[in-house]
Amino acid sequence: MIIPEISFPDYLEAKKEVDDSALNSTVRERLLSAIRHVVTEQTGTLRILDLGTGTGAMVRRLLRDLGSVQSAGMDLEILGVDIDQNLVETAKRLGAEDWVESGSGSRHSAGSGEVKIEFRVMSVDKALAKENSCELITAHALMDLLPMAATCAAVHRSLVPGGLFYATINYNGLTRWYPKAEDAEFEQQLLSYYDRSMRRVREDGREQDGASSGGQLYEACSAAGLEVLALGGSDWCVFPKVDVGTAAYTGGERSLLAWMLGNIYREGLQEFPASSMDTWMSGRLHCLQQERLAMVVHHLDVLARRRFP
Ligand SMILES: C[S@@+](CC[C@H](N)C(=O)[O-])C[C@H]1O[C@@H](n2cnc3c(N)ncnc32)[C@H](O)[C@@H]1O
Repeated sequence: MIIPEISFPDYLEAKKEVDDSALNSTVRERLLSAIRHVVTEQTGTLRILDLGTGTGAMVRRLLRDLGSVQSAGMDLEILGVDIDQNLVETAKRLGAEDWVESGSGSRHSAGSGEVKIEFRVMSVDKALAKENSCELITAHALMDLLPMAATCAAVHRSLVPGGLFYATINYNGLTRWYPKAEDAEFEQQLLSYYDRSMRRVREDGREQDGASSGGQLYEACSAAGLEVLALGGSDWCVFPKVDVGTAAYTGGERSLLAWMLGNIYREGLQEFPASSMDTWMSGRLHCLQQERLAMVVHHLDVLARRRFP
């Protein structure tokens, strides 16, 4: 079986394109209005920490969205951290296409506020070690990989009172492919197994179900003392476009579909006979090549705030 080879950084960049359309606009609007509130209450610097930054996609999004903060005279200090050195190098390189490099980070001035961006190889634990140090913490497609309760408690400590936690694209237990597979019952079993395979027992002994991470995060925020300001769906809905004269999928969509098929195929080999997996995969790849394949994956976005004293 020939599985499409896509590198992890390429997958993250393909995902960025789909995430941009999927991010919940109501939650995002609430984030921007809450930040405007922070900006009117404070002067100085808005300190932002992007956890598990990968190729820095969320940092680039924030730069696009936070122009108004800068033009209100506030400086932006953004730190993106990841444990993977290769990804951090990629984040710096992609960032450098937009910003002028200076020293270890990147700086540019536009409008009245100054922007400082830095990417570092660092664990989430270490990045969250300093109390009262950030106005905004972001975590994009990350929380399912971390111990939820301990991370939310650490986020709470790291935020200043009134500081915001914007955690997005949290998988919430539904992946579906269309049109119906030839052996729809097998695909159903495979997708149920795929969700079950995300269950882990964490170092703190707690069981965590990656397939319900959106809902678990909602509860963990409240348990950690963060108040949830907004909650909304951020589903990936990738389907072949029928507009005359345009390709069925964008490049990002095609790569994401291929990555997801490969991911589920490899996971399924742990449970099902290779012959069944091969039959399923070749049917789905055929559908992709014919530009008929659609995919829906359910996620949740959460915006939470550390209470004012
Ligand atoms: C699914 S990727 C998401 C990357 C990026 N936020 C995005 O969506 O484009 C998860 C990222 O978290 C990083 N990661 C996982 N555990 C981490 C930890 N304990 N500390 C720092 N980074 C971590 C991984 O290296 C990976 O880059």
